Amino acid sequence: MTKEQITIELFQELNQTNIIDHLRSLNDEKKSQFLANLNQLNERISLKKLLKDSKESLNQLNINKITPSTSVIDSLPSTSYQSIIDNKQLQDAYYEIGIDSIKKGEVAVILMAGGQGTRLGSSNPKGCFDIGLPSHKSLFQIQAERLISLQNLANSDIPIHWYIMTSPLTSEPTQSFFEKNNFFGLSKDQITFFNQGTLPALDPKGEQFLIGSPTTLVESPDGNGGLYRALRDNHLIEDFVNRGIKHIHMYCVDNILTKLADPVFIGFAIKNNYQLATKSVRKRSPHESVGVIATRDSKPCVIEYSEISNQLAESIDKETGLLKLRAANIVNHYYSVDLLKSHVDNWCNNLTYHIANKKIPIYDSKTDSIIKFETPNGIKLEQFIFDIFPLIPIEKFGCLEVDRNEEFSPLKNASGTQNDNPETSRLAYLRLTTNWLKDAGAIIKDDDILVEVSSKLSYHGENLSKYNGHIFDKESLIEN
Ligand code: UD1
Repeated sequence: MTKEQITIELFQELNQTNIIDHLRSLNDEKKSQFLANLNQLNERISLKKLLKDSKESLNQLNINKITPSTSVIDSLPSTSYQSIIDNKQLQDAYYEIGIDSIKKGEVAVILMAGGQGTRLGSSNPKGCFDIGLPSHKSLFQIQAERLISLQNLANSDIPIHWYIMTSPLTSEPTQSFFEKNNFFGLSKDQITFFNQGTLPALDPKGEQFLIGSPTTLVESPDGNGGLYRALRDNHLIEDFVNRGIKHIHMYCVDNILTKLADPVFIGFAIKNNYQLATKSVRKRSPHESVGVIATRDSKPCVIEYSEISNQLAESIDKETGLLKLRAANIVNHYYSVDLLKSHVDNWCNNLTYHIANKKIPIYDSKTDSIIKFETPNGIKLEQFIFDIFPLIPIEKFGCLEVDRNEEFSPLKNASGTQNDNPETSRLAYLRLTTNWLKDAGAIIKDDDILVEVSSKLSYHGENLSKYNGHIFDKESLIEN
């Protein structure tokens, strides 16, 4: 049997009537192209397994809102949870351990920048977004410069390596943006761009693949859980080992306050011998769109905002009067390279699929045109990065509570919305850097005067002593 016949048989076996019908409408050349594309996709991900697994997720979708009765849900035990808020001594102790490891070149950073800014109303990669700071710097620039200021603090010859994950949709514009801006002062060699994979979309019953053009299926990025497959397929774990990297800090592009390679966080993980760690802030309200870090049947987990029941989200800790599940996931994760080395293969093959109902344009061979829909006509599949947390022994899992005002202000929504938008991100950054100046002894004339301190100058408030006594009477920008 030829390769093409094998592929046709597979799709017959999988009852893909859409595809079989579509094949009949194609000329020989297009048919070969389509079959080659299908075959390539099936080699990358077993489509048979994908159909089976996604059907299971779909069946569970309605019965599986996580409630106190479906599993035993609890907050993390104190052995896995620590707060550094108002604990300068602890912060300093972790900092020393973390900065020492950075000096030795053992720490690298992964940025997840594969998602599109759909909710933000932008088609550019989110990292290119200008939130309206006095400097008009993009999120990418602020993050790159923070890496520079941390390198200055570490005062080491070994640059901190930055791995940037993009998706087929964000790859080209992201790389061009970096090139156009001369890598924001970083060395080109210390950045590795890599792509996450894609997954095919399905009809609402999860049975038929959707066709996107005469020779391709509709595919979309495989979710932030696609990171693991991307690390494996791009041989990045070997790269970590070759460079002598032992610790990874992974974060999301959309949080303007992220402290890349935060020495305190790295030190927290090293000191406690955690294989995986994460940062949290206190949840703002029961229905804030954040996952919560918790335990499910005594195993560490994140319960995503889309999958938590109202009862669980709203339940109160009687002792403190605070939300019982209040450790918000800010997607700042630590991995030891040893953990990745031994487990990534297994994780790639066993992550579940999460379902999102979407309006998906599809190709119609009868009219040779793309049909658009007003209501959801299909499902997209996504994997979640934290679905592997339950596989980590609880004693090897740590969560560090940090101050929201210093570390979390995500950019999710378009300008003018209620929260998590360009205005709130801008304000969070400016308030933080203005406070650094006040701590350094600067005089800020009015409460509503805000001063931007370049992230290239200061990582966490250092280098500002020359502003002691300096008066700021209008919005300003300090570059150096
Ligand atoms: C995510 C978290 C949620 C957390 C919240 C905090 C997951 C699954 N959910 O939710 O628990 O409380 O952030 O802000 O982690 N991305 C990719 N490729 C993709 C999809 C996303 O790289 O295919 C990246 C995005 O660029 C972004 C990050 O992952 O940097 C988070 O994605 P997003 O879809 O915005 O997550 P949320 O729904 O906000």
